[in-house]
Amino acid sequence: MNNTFGRNLTLTLFGESHGPEIGCVIDGLRPGLPVDEGAIGHRLALRRPAAGIGTPRVEPDPFRIVSGVYRGRTTGTPLCILIPNTQTRSGDYVNLQNTPRPGHADYTGRIKYEGYADPRGGGHFSGRLTAPLVAAGAIFLTALAERGIRVGTHIAHCGGIADRPFGDLAADLAVLEQAAFPVLDGARAEQMRAAVLAAAQDGDSVGGVLETAVLGLPAGLGAPWFDTAEGLLAHALFSIPAVKGVEFGDGFALAALRGSQANDAFRMEGGRIVTATNHNGGINGGITNGMPLLFRTAVKPTPSISAPQRSVNLSTGKEATIQVGGRHDPCIVPRARAVQDSVTALVLLDLLGEEKTDFAL
Ligand SMILES: Cc1cc2nc3c(=O)[nH]c(=O)nc-3n(C[C@H](O)[C@H](O)[C@H](O)COP(=O)(O)O)c2cc1C
Repeated sequence: MNNTFGRNLTLTLFGESHGPEIGCVIDGLRPGLPVDEGAIGHRLALRRPAAGIGTPRVEPDPFRIVSGVYRGRTTGTPLCILIPNTQTRSGDYVNLQNTPRPGHADYTGRIKYEGYADPRGGGHFSGRLTAPLVAAGAIFLTALAERGIRVGTHIAHCGGIADRPFGDLAADLAVLEQAAFPVLDGARAEQMRAAVLAAAQDGDSVGGVLETAVLGLPAGLGAPWFDTAEGLLAHALFSIPAVKGVEFGDGFALAALRGSQANDAFRMEGGRIVTATNHNGGINGGITNGMPLLFRTAVKPTPSISAPQRSVNLSTGKEATIQVGGRHDPCIVPRARAVQDSVTALVLLDLLGEEKTDFAL
């Protein structure tokens, strides 16, 4: 199932960037879950190009829920969301059909689908397909919030500028839920924007690091070997186009520490076992330990840049220089955070469906 993720709760993505519609099918949601179209619209707005630095392509995302919801609540049957593609300019891609963009999926997609894939706008490989993922995520995030579980993501670094680290998580997640540009220190936003614009003026792009925190997760989710909480999250996070790295807790930095520095000592707090630090990001042995879940992703610079790049004409076999036209974001990091929240919520709800309790999704 190439385009489906999950076991207890499944999500299937379909469509192409310049086809008539894109969408998703969600199966396994419990009946009676509230579905707030305003909340879906809000999350889709967070995925839109960031003001001032994003692509001039306007994506209004007028979604339609065509099944699985009756009188504002899930029915428990497959829920399908459709989003029409209205902002297509396929002519921008005509020159690229035979000369793949470096860093994008044009070449690998052509190999895998034997040249039959729809190449317009990146086709099925386009970041555009993250729109239905984000719409679905709004429903998943509501389901988690009903359980007291909250998810939030900020830009830890972008274009060489760092945000402040997470502090009071409850307060920080409340700020991020409303923030159009997801940073904890508003002053850094302007510096990040300036770095993005400087790259754009050179016909170039920048990447960054997204950091996610999850509050309120119970201990005991995940399994020790092949279905570790880290493994399932990493699987879903690597499905986000342009994500090239994932680390949990202190991640790669743990490798340089001694055990005495890396271990999170246990202590009692209000009758509960907690850890004094959280270097391991809330997971031990593949299983959540009840501390906040913390992880980061590395988002690479947008591959479609207007500066000249070397490629190969696949018809002639001759090397060629290409310049990518079209409307591309010089930085997709701010938009990708809404996608990161969504895939996180999908994995956690799926894992909660395996709880030994009678928890219903
Ligand atoms: C929300 C979002 C929007 C994106 N928009 C673009 C874009 O406008 N132009 C582009 O070249 N890549 C864009 N990407 C990234 C590409 O889709 C991605 O780099 C490409 O599919 C290759 O996959 P890989 O980078 O994971 O190897 C976007 C990614 C996301 C998450």
